[in-house]
Amino acid sequence: MARISVFGIGYVGVVSAACLARDGHDVIAVDVDQHKVDTLGAGRAPIVEKGLDELVADTVASGKLTATTDADAAIRDTDASFVCVGTPSDPDGSVGLGHVVSVCESIGRALAGKSGFHSVVMRSTIVPGTMEEVCIPTIETASGKRAGRDFGVGYFPEFLRESTAIEDYANPGLIVFGALDRETEDFLTEINRDLPCEMNKVDLRTAEMVKYTSNSWRAMKISFANEIGNIAKANELDGQVVMRILCSDEKVAMSPAFLRPGFAFGGSCLPKDVRALRHVARTKQVPTPLLDAVLDGNTAQIGRAEDMVNSAATKSVGMIGVSFKSGTDDLRESPLADLAARLIERGQDVHVYDPYVAEAFEMDPEAVGRGNDVVPDLSARMESDIDTLIDTSDVIVVGNAYPEIAPRIRDAAERVRVVDLTRVDPGMVSGDTYQGICW
Ligand SMILES: NC(=O)c1ccc[n+]([C@@H]2O[C@H](COP(=O)([O-])OP(=O)(O)OC[C@H]3O[C@@H](n4cnc5c(N)ncnc54)[C@H](O)[C@@H]3O)[C@@H](O)[C@H]2O)c1
Repeated sequence: MARISVFGIGYVGVVSAACLARDGHDVIAVDVDQHKVDTLGAGRAPIVEKGLDELVADTVASGKLTATTDADAAIRDTDASFVCVGTPSDPDGSVGLGHVVSVCESIGRALAGKSGFHSVVMRSTIVPGTMEEVCIPTIETASGKRAGRDFGVGYFPEFLRESTAIEDYANPGLIVFGALDRETEDFLTEINRDLPCEMNKVDLRTAEMVKYTSNSWRAMKISFANEIGNIAKANELDGQVVMRILCSDEKVAMSPAFLRPGFAFGGSCLPKDVRALRHVARTKQVPTPLLDAVLDGNTAQIGRAEDMVNSAATKSVGMIGVSFKSGTDDLRESPLADLAARLIERGQDVHVYDPYVAEAFEMDPEAVGRGNDVVPDLSARMESDIDTLIDTSDVIVVGNAYPEIAPRIRDAAERVRVVDLTRVDPGMVSGDTYQGICW
């Protein structure tokens, strides 16, 4: 069992502190708010949360949980700290780091006078880069010590939900953390060992980003459901029934397949149907800020790919894939065809490898393609040999993944510029010549 101090005994900190104490750890809760410290010290929960009163009363009575305003003593008498101070919005929308900086300064000063190793684990929600750019330098300056060598550092975001916080602690939906050093990683692994959830061990910045992604995702789902509900009601329909039925579809509607960052959506259904639903809403004066953003964001993603290609001073572009997805010759509203048209308009010499569209041209040489209305001379731009396409291009744009291309793209990325919109190989990361659109 570990000796742990928890800095900040608000909604997150007090639940963590009480649960850690219940699990047998010796926990010192630290706060600058004397009233909260006194309340907790007297065995009462400083916030309202289901089951917390009993948990605090039991753990304080057993001596496993104590409370103090003395940061020095808390650091001295524990081996690791969890930091759960608030990070409210600043007026410009940025994350307010006042409490984080102040607690890092107190912890740093306390570490200066401590000889044993101590891990500092941040649990507050902080934007990517804050650990490296703010927390670690602040603790280093205040302590005169080196992070990762003289003291440990971790970032372990909290995902519990108020009102079910104690249940969530025991049964989390997600565990992710990053650690700068082996001791802190081992400590976090041990703390989470018995929880029924996979542990995602990542770098500090990825852990920071996952937390914001989770909250933004939840927020977006709520706004989406509300927008659908508003459109439904305006059409005398029950929005809750509509969304309940949608959510029953785990194969498509709720599938993670559509949550993979990459290129724009297209095809014969999604663009036209989003437009049509938006039109339905407009006829009833229902605002659709989210559906508007869906279409705007999609167009912007095509522009992003275009900029990535044009940022290189190239003339010859080899596109792998032009249909709206792999496995079909359908070119209707294909964002890759749109990208090709934009590049051609900018003066790029574009050639295309797409076995499915090539087959369509073989079947019907006169056809301009299956719904292609943006690249009129597409058949003349088709290249049937992938190696020739790679060898004759200054930049390769990977739009669709075909089984035969992964080794060739790995090889090509050694010598020519590759812009990957789909990620043919999960092992490839952006570098000098290879750039993934979202990775
Ligand atoms: N509330 C939630 O449901 C929830 C869930 C997950 C993550 N988070 C994140 O966790 C963090 C904490 O949230 P919260 O809702 O518990 O905040 P809170 O405001 O309820 O509690 C923060 C506590 O930190 C204390 N504090 C401030 N400066 C301090 C210092 N220098 N030393 C010691 N204590 C100090 C405050 O007095 C307060 O008691 C935030 O970053 C929040 O975004 C919150």
